[in-house]
Amino acid sequence: MTMRNTLLVGSAALLRGVAALNHIVVQGQDFADSVTGDRFEIVGVDYQPGGEQAYDPTSGVDVLSTPDACLRDAALLQRLGANTIRTYNLNPDLNHDECASIFNAAGIYLIIDVNVPQESINRADPSSSYNVGYLNRTFGIIDNFRSYDNTLAFFSSNELVNDDQTSKEDPPYIRAVTRDLKQYLAARGGRAIPIGYSAADVRNILVDTTNYISCHVDGEDNDISRSDFIGVNGYSWCGPTSNFVTGQYSELAEFYADTTIPVFFSEYGCNKPQPRYWNEVLSIYSTKDMPTFSGGLAYEWTQEANDYGLVQLNDNNTLSLLRDYNVLQSQLKKVDFGAITTRNETAANLKPPTCSADIITSGAFDSEFNIPDQPDGVADLIKNGKGGIQGKLVDVGDLTVHTAVYNVDGSQVKNLAVSRVSGANTPSSTTSTAAAASNGPVGGMAMGGIFGMLIWLLG
Ligand SMILES: *[C@@H]1O[C@H](CO)[C@@H](O)[C@H](O)[C@H]1NC(C)=O
Ligand SMILES: *[C@@H]1O[C@H](CO)[C@@H](O)[C@H](O)[C@H]1NC(C)=O
Ligand SMILES: *[C@@H]1O[C@H](CO)[C@@H](O)[C@H](O)[C@H]1NC(C)=O
Repeated sequence: MTMRNTLLVGSAALLRGVAALNHIVVQGQDFADSVTGDRFEIVGVDYQPGGEQAYDPTSGVDVLSTPDACLRDAALLQRLGANTIRTYNLNPDLNHDECASIFNAAGIYLIIDVNVPQESINRADPSSSYNVGYLNRTFGIIDNFRSYDNTLAFFSSNELVNDDQTSKEDPPYIRAVTRDLKQYLAARGGRAIPIGYSAADVRNILVDTTNYISCHVDGEDNDISRSDFIGVNGYSWCGPTSNFVTGQYSELAEFYADTTIPVFFSEYGCNKPQPRYWNEVLSIYSTKDMPTFSGGLAYEWTQEANDYGLVQLNDNNTLSLLRDYNVLQSQLKKVDFGAITTRNETAANLKPPTCSADIITSGAFDSEFNIPDQPDGVADLIKNGKGGIQGKLVDVGDLTVHTAVYNVDGSQVKNLAVSRVSGANTPSSTTSTAAAASNGPVGGMAMGGIFGMLIWLLG
């Protein structure tokens, strides 16, 4: 291949890359589209095929490294109406370009946990697990995902503070890791991707947790240890007889009535009793019930031993949709997403609390805000970079799904494909999968042609 041909091929990919999703930014208590300024609500699914303990760094694969599986799932998530997935168990030494690009083409953002269960802060012994080796891993995840336009956010940790015991010792480590990740990201010179915390829904410490991670530290340079948002893993609304009040969402809405950072459900979908009706969806996206909530992520994509799946992975490398998928899809279709793009301008001016013992109400909860110093060697990693894989969006070509997918009744889903969209996916933007199959790349050829010509002239 000549140099000129190489440039031509490269340029087409580059220009298709321009059809990337707009960045999502934090504005006061909301997420917003950085270009249109519209409020952005998360319509998401927690994505951890294989389950919580599936991470195996020696296997050579993780949940975003098998493009065929990502393509199949992106097509189905798009049909469901999702605009975001959250992933938990990623390996920083793998390349995720194709999967990230497939989800980007489908209008789906990524929220990335930097931890895996085996490599995270140990809530029973935080000081010994907060070390350079651990942070090195988290920086690898940052490098891997920071250049994808559809990376919405990172979680610095998940449910580190769970009860009175852990609320004594662990809160400073949430702020420490947040600080380290933000410093690492800032030193790389790219955009400031939001970094936040995913909290267990333990009501007696939830308000303290939120105040602790979101408060402003006087004198600290740029408040760098402050979380940009909070996710709540909330399973209190159970079954068809539950409602906004008895499902205890009203209490959450009250807790967060004047929130100064975005709040959303980082997991929701109580599965007892079965089957699930997903009635909580209508409250989550109601401007009346939960006006300050920025949506949520339904737990979870694949059926695992704990019985929360929307879909079932079969042994013969096919996938079957479960009843829960259809019910969730029909609930999402009832939501008027057009009604929630406007931001509350009064709330935009709410100021975060100042960190002090005054904002902590539970006796056990840390109220000293002594953020641990960085372990030795971390400053060098931040300064010089970790030198791991740095991801980038790539041209993913044909987006037709070739693996078999079955409906609940056993019939095969026909003409399944990702439909290329230029903005966030919405439950109404994808009406039928058959129509989706006929949509080509958005302006890819034409633009590539013009740019190719330019390179040719310059060459
Ligand atoms: C960070 O991880 C890389 C492998 O990704 C390794 O080569 C390097 O030694 C690690 N550095 C530290 C300080 O742990
Ligand atoms: C694959 O397995 C599923 C579930 O057992 C079954 O319904 C389907 O017919 C199988 N497909 C093929 C091609 O064997
Ligand atoms: C806007 O935010 C303010 C401050 O939190 C609140 O009092 C008000 O009720 C909100 N308005 C709407 C329409 O939600």
